[in-house]
Amino acid sequence: MSFSKIVSLSTVERFIDYLSDNGISIPVCSSLPDVSKLALGQPLSYRGRVIGNRWAILPMEGWDCERDGCPSELTRRRWLRFAVSGAKLLYGCEAAAVMVSGKSSTRQLMITDDTVGAIARLRADVVRTHEQKFGRSGDLCIGLQLTHSGRYSHPYDDAKLDSVIAYRNPLLDRKFGNEGLAVASDEMIEEMIAAFVHAGKLAADAGFDFVDIKHAHGYFGHELLSAYHRTGRFGGSLENRTRFFREIATGIRKQSPSIDVSLRLSLFDFAPFVKGADGVGVPMSDGSYEYAFGGDGTGVGYDLRETIELVEVLKAAGVTMICTTVGSPYYNPHIQRPAAIPVVDGYLPPEDPLRGVARQVAAVAEMKRRFPDMIFVGSGYSYLQDYLPNVAEAVVAAGMADAVGIGRMVLSYPDICDDVLRGRPLTRNKICRTIGDCTNAPRNGMPSGCYPLDEYYKTRPEAERLREIKRAKVSL
Ligand SMILES: Cc1cc2nc3c(=O)[nH]c(=O)nc-3n(C[C@H](O)[C@H](O)[C@H](O)COP(=O)(O)O)c2cc1C
Ligand code: SF4
Repeated sequence: MSFSKIVSLSTVERFIDYLSDNGISIPVCSSLPDVSKLALGQPLSYRGRVIGNRWAILPMEGWDCERDGCPSELTRRRWLRFAVSGAKLLYGCEAAAVMVSGKSSTRQLMITDDTVGAIARLRADVVRTHEQKFGRSGDLCIGLQLTHSGRYSHPYDDAKLDSVIAYRNPLLDRKFGNEGLAVASDEMIEEMIAAFVHAGKLAADAGFDFVDIKHAHGYFGHELLSAYHRTGRFGGSLENRTRFFREIATGIRKQSPSIDVSLRLSLFDFAPFVKGADGVGVPMSDGSYEYAFGGDGTGVGYDLRETIELVEVLKAAGVTMICTTVGSPYYNPHIQRPAAIPVVDGYLPPEDPLRGVARQVAAVAEMKRRFPDMIFVGSGYSYLQDYLPNVAEAVVAAGMADAVGIGRMVLSYPDICDDVLRGRPLTRNKICRTIGDCTNAPRNGMPSGCYPLDEYYKTRPEAERLREIKRAKVSL
């Protein structure tokens, strides 16, 4: 699959021409308006309060907490960089496990009676750091993402999956060695719900404005949404498949009325992909795939009809804000986080990554069109690199999303939102080039970070180990 790299499209005009020549539909502002007129700078109303602008920081975990689940110095550094980004919506900060069995790694943040004090202090430091830079924090909104990693849990050993699965999925079972594993019982799910509700109370005590109950990326809550063939209280009908979320939301609201309940949602999913003979990703499915929530049945397309039904259910459950995403970084990374360079355990992109960006932009716009009163945050913009601000501005100005979230870009360029809001030109050597080392490092047992561009990580010993791992993979 050949495509032009964004760096080779040296002007916004060339970028626009490239999109048009290749039939890729992404809105772009050819030049950003004066800062006073930026759509990205406009406030956003949320539950009777004001969020200061339309930039969001997406949840970005670092695989770098203490073993007991408390934030470490590296975690603190990352959150404080979110604080100075200029974004006024910190959508979840990072995934915090609600129980040991659901930790994505031994170093995942975990919210418990023992860790909540440290997490509360970190949140307060985020607010203080934001105030120091911007002079106020009343318009800053901070959530905490709560999760159970389900099939992708590594609670005791980073090299060993201890999966908890919602149902048998022959392709994922094969890919992740889950054949023969028992499906989580209804009683286990009820224990999880209780853990989420308790975690919600702790997040409220720690001062967060909302919790994001993760229903994305193939983790447990997301997997339940496609548990079409599961029997019992949590499978089959949409009502049953959403019971997990609804019971968590009701439980949290009852115990802690001050905190809002939101979610990160994979709007659609595709089949798992694997490396084909030429290294390019190919779907494991053979023309049909029945386990993709929001999928069109082929494994390689989407159909938002059920997602729309789900959002009706969420709306009735009191949800007013959704952070969107798609797919999963474990089994179809090119769908979830478009990139030019594959991660070491991944595959060459089977499409121009700009098509992946366009797919997410279009899906969010469709949801926004259907639910104009709900807040939708868009994701998957980092691949746009130099033109991220031009697209973000065009999307928000056109009402195709309420806010634009950034993930990888905030690791390499922590103050990009502020630069845009102040009308400053981008600093080119801080722009994320989607090299993937922030994913390669944790996939090899090291903390995440922007090893290529962030001086702090560049000089850590893990940077050399990472280079060796990549060299070894290339020479295979
Ligand atoms: C290192 C890393 C950590 C991530 N951690 C989380 C997380 O904790 N929770 C989550 O929902 N998504 C997580 N994501 C996904 C991002 O939030 C985001 O959806 C993705 O990177 C695509 O956005 P981008 O193109 O701006 O990077 C992570 C991604 C990366 C690369
Ligand atoms: S390692 Fe840095 S440049 Fe590479 S994807 Fe991550 S943030 Fe971007």
